[in-house]
Amino acid sequence: MDIPFIDLDAQEKVIGKKLEGAVETVLQHKKFINGPEVSVFEESLAKFANVNNAITCGSGTDALLLPLMAIGVGEGDAVFVPSFTFVATAEVVSLLKATPFFVDVDMKTFNIDPEILRNAIIASKKMGLKPKVIIPVDLFGQPACYDQINEIAEEFSLNVISDAAQSFGAKQGGKPVGGLAHITSTSFFPSKPLGCYGDGGAILTDDKPLAENLMSLRAHGSGKNKYDNVRIGLNSRLDTIQAAILIEKINILKNEIEKRNLVAKKYSEEIDKKIQKPIINNGNYSAWAQYTIIYENRDQLSEYLKDKGIPTVIYYPKPLHLQSAYTVFPRYPKNLKVSEFLSSKVLSLPMHPYLSSAQQNFIISSINKYTKEK
Ligand SMILES: Cc1ncc(COP(=O)(O)O)c(C=O)c1O
Repeated sequence: MDIPFIDLDAQEKVIGKKLEGAVETVLQHKKFINGPEVSVFEESLAKFANVNNAITCGSGTDALLLPLMAIGVGEGDAVFVPSFTFVATAEVVSLLKATPFFVDVDMKTFNIDPEILRNAIIASKKMGLKPKVIIPVDLFGQPACYDQINEIAEEFSLNVISDAAQSFGAKQGGKPVGGLAHITSTSFFPSKPLGCYGDGGAILTDDKPLAENLMSLRAHGSGKNKYDNVRIGLNSRLDTIQAAILIEKINILKNEIEKRNLVAKKYSEEIDKKIQKPIINNGNYSAWAQYTIIYENRDQLSEYLKDKGIPTVIYYPKPLHLQSAYTVFPRYPKNLKVSEFLSSKVLSLPMHPYLSSAQQNFIISSINKYTKEK
């Protein structure tokens, strides 16, 4: 059986014709930059997330960089990030000469641990840094603990930028991702729950003055017009063709997230108890960007599954505080034990809305056969 890790072909069977039509329209009108599809998609995005402003940009990485620029983060500022995440979360901080401050994650959710976060903020002050921003990551699609994080942010007067690159379409307490923090950044990288056919990203916020600042920053710091430059900015736009594709994809997102939840439920119910399955906190509805298990012999299990045509991926094999470009930055506590443990034990299984029962049964029975033999 040939099982893809994510299956964009299966999605194309559902909306392929609409996607072709949408791209063809852009090819005809030729407004490749800032075409009408961009603002149409921004409206759909804001409506989906139930927020007032959605500002699209060139990538999920820029969607983190732009709000940090808007806040004015720079040298001497500490920005608190989990270590168990994709590099972009910390990279944008260092690009602005601020200090990424690595915080350990919670063993159950893999997301930043609020109690450790509080101690990290106190520790950063003792080191002479100025705590400025928290960037929680909704890893693998599950929202971080925003109630606690927002409370800590208020106590220490910090900004919160939610890195929702993997969680667009998720909810917490019935509230969609996009409105859980002051600022939310997301990515439309092709493999994300809402992915385009290239790079793309967006920032969501109810803060109107911030939204206006971000719109200027993404367009070279423009003022009244393109040739009036009032701040130092970037060129970071979502291409019209990508917006046209995303208009079609967001229409089926709710249904696709429901399907991902069914796939996750089946995995969780039927995979052998010897394997630790994802834990979703009460009140969270995950977007299931990944279905990630913890298993002592994950490398052998991965090889075994590969021989059967079942792909798996390790997200992430090395936490950021151990990456050679990032070892110089501070962390709390001294040993980020949970991040290191997870990097050595996690394994992500095929996960997408179109995984058939037959495919999933084969994956589950193969895993269970392996654990039985062990
Ligand atoms: C947690 C996280 N943050 C940020 C990014 C960056 O997004 P992009 O690849 O669109 O720049 C990604 C995506 O790969 C991600 O998974």
